[in-house]
Amino acid sequence: MRNLWRSLGCSGFLKTYYRTITSNSQIPFTWISLAQSLHKTLAFYLYNQRNRFSTMPEIDKNKIDPELYSPPSQVRGMTKLDRTAFKKIVTIPVLNVRKEMVNKLVRSLKKALLQRPGIKRVIDDPKDEGNKLVMLDPYKIVSDDSFEESERLLLKQLNVNPQISSYSLELTYENFKTEEILRAVLPEGQDVTSGFSRIGHIAHLNLRDHQLPFKQLIGQVIIDKNQGITSVVNKINTIDNIYRNFQMEVLSGEENMITKVRENNYIYEFDFSKVYWNPRLSTEHNRITELLRPGDVLFDVFAGVGPFAIPVAKKDCTVFANDLNPESHKWLLHNCKLNKVDQKVKIFNLDGKDFLQGPVREELMKLVKQTSKERKPHVHIVMNLPAMAIEFLGIFRCLLDGQIKNSELLPTVHCYSFSKADDPVKDVQQRAEALLGASLKGCSSVHLVRNVAPNKEMACITFQVPASVLYENWPMNEEEQFLKAENLEGPPFKRLRTSKTLFEES
Ligand SMILES: C[S@@+](CC[C@H](N)C(=O)[O-])C[C@H]1O[C@@H](n2cnc3c(N)ncnc32)[C@H](O)[C@@H]1O
Repeated sequence: MRNLWRSLGCSGFLKTYYRTITSNSQIPFTWISLAQSLHKTLAFYLYNQRNRFSTMPEIDKNKIDPELYSPPSQVRGMTKLDRTAFKKIVTIPVLNVRKEMVNKLVRSLKKALLQRPGIKRVIDDPKDEGNKLVMLDPYKIVSDDSFEESERLLLKQLNVNPQISSYSLELTYENFKTEEILRAVLPEGQDVTSGFSRIGHIAHLNLRDHQLPFKQLIGQVIIDKNQGITSVVNKINTIDNIYRNFQMEVLSGEENMITKVRENNYIYEFDFSKVYWNPRLSTEHNRITELLRPGDVLFDVFAGVGPFAIPVAKKDCTVFANDLNPESHKWLLHNCKLNKVDQKVKIFNLDGKDFLQGPVREELMKLVKQTSKERKPHVHIVMNLPAMAIEFLGIFRCLLDGQIKNSELLPTVHCYSFSKADDPVKDVQQRAEALLGASLKGCSSVHLVRNVAPNKEMACITFQVPASVLYENWPMNEEEQFLKAENLEGPPFKRLRTSKTLFEES
C-alpha cells in the first residue's frame, strides 16, 4: 500500500496534512476524523483503481468467456425488473496511449475498439496522468498479435506500444443490450425475440406463451433501451375483427394510444387501439403511389387512415377514399388536413360494396361520358383488405351496364389477398378470375408483398378490369365465355363471406 501511495505521488501531501491536523489540538475532532476518513477513502479509491488495471502482458485466448456480455446468472427467472442485479465485472484489453495521440488513434482503430452501450472507450490511466487507456474489443484483441497489419502500422506511426494490458470493467444494466438482458432472464433455451413494430411512441409486440410471465419486464426493458418509446403493447389475439385493428394490452408505460408516425415523408396521426396501421407496408404504399401520374383518379376502397390516399393526392390526382370504421374515417379526415390535401380527397364512411356500387360507379359513369379530346385520366382502384378484398371483385360484373360502352376507360385494380397455396401467384389469379368470371391471362400481374406467417403470403394482383366484365353483352373471346359459364350462379358479391366466417378462418 505504501508503494502504491508513493507511486501515485499524492501521499506526501496528504500525509503531511493528516499529521498536521492530528497533532494540532486546536483542530476539532470532527476535522480530524474527516481527514482520517478522507485519507482512507482516497487510499481505497486509488487502490481499487490500480487493481482494476493491471499490466498483464496478454489475455489467454482460451480463457475468453463466450458469455462475457451475459448478465449475471442470478437474474434468470426475474419477473419484476431489478436493474441493480445486473452488475458484473469483466476483463477488457486496453492500450496505454499518450493523451495527445488518443483522438487520432480512436478515429483510425474503430474496428478494434470496445463496442458497449454507455461505456466510455477512453478513460484516464490511474498510473500516469499523461496517459489514457483505450478499451479494446475482447473478442477481437487478445494479445498484441491480434492487431491487423494496418492497425499495427498505425500504432507504430503514432508511437503507441502495441502491448495490451487488462482492465476490470464493471458492467451494469445500462451496458447490456435488450436481447442480452432478455436472454439472461427468460427460460434457458427458449426463443427470445425482442423484435417489435414501432408506431410513434408505441412498441408493438407479439409475445409467445412462454414470454407472457415476463411481459411487464420485457415492456420495461424496451422502454429503457429505446429512446422515444414510452408505451409497450402486446397483441392479445390475431386481427379478427372487421376493422382490422388489434386487441392489445399495455405492458408498460403510458396508456395513451394516440400517436403520430411519419411514412414516406407524410404524417399520420391516429389512435392505434382503434384503427389499422402496419409500418411494414410503407414500401407497398410507395410502390402503388409511384404508379399514378398527375391527373389520374384513385378510388381507395379500404383506405384506413390514408397511407395510399394522401401520397397519391399530393401527386395532383383526384382521390376518393373510403373506410367502414368510423374511427379510421375520422383520422382519415384529420390526416388529409394535416398533410394539406383535404381539397383533393373526397372521403366516405361506407361498406366497400356500397362504395363501389355508389360513388365509384357514379364517377366512372361521369368519366365514360366525358367527350373531351384531352388525355382521359387513368383510373386506379386500390383494395387493401387482404383477408376478403378479392371477394369484392364480383361487384365489377356489369357495374357499368346500361352505359355508353367505352373500352378506353377500364380501371386498373390493385387487389390484395392472403394466400396459403404453394403457388400464391397462380392461386390469387385463379380466385380473381373466378370472381370476375373472366380470364386475366396476359393482362394481370401478381406482386408478392410480404410473408405474413409461415406459409402465408400477402399478394397484390393488378389488372385492368376487362370490358366484358364491366358491360353486359360485351363481345368475349372463347376463354372468357368459358369462365363466364363457369360462374353463372349469380353475382359473387352476394356470396361474400360474413364477418363470422372470416373470424373462423383467421
Ligand atoms: C388492412 S386495412 C388497410 C388500411 C390501409 N389501406 C393501409 O394500407 O394501411 C383494411 C381497412 O379496411 C377497413 N374495412 C374493413 N372492412 C371493410 C368494409 N367492408 N368496407 C370498407 N372498409 C372496410 C378497415 O377498417 C381497415 O381500415
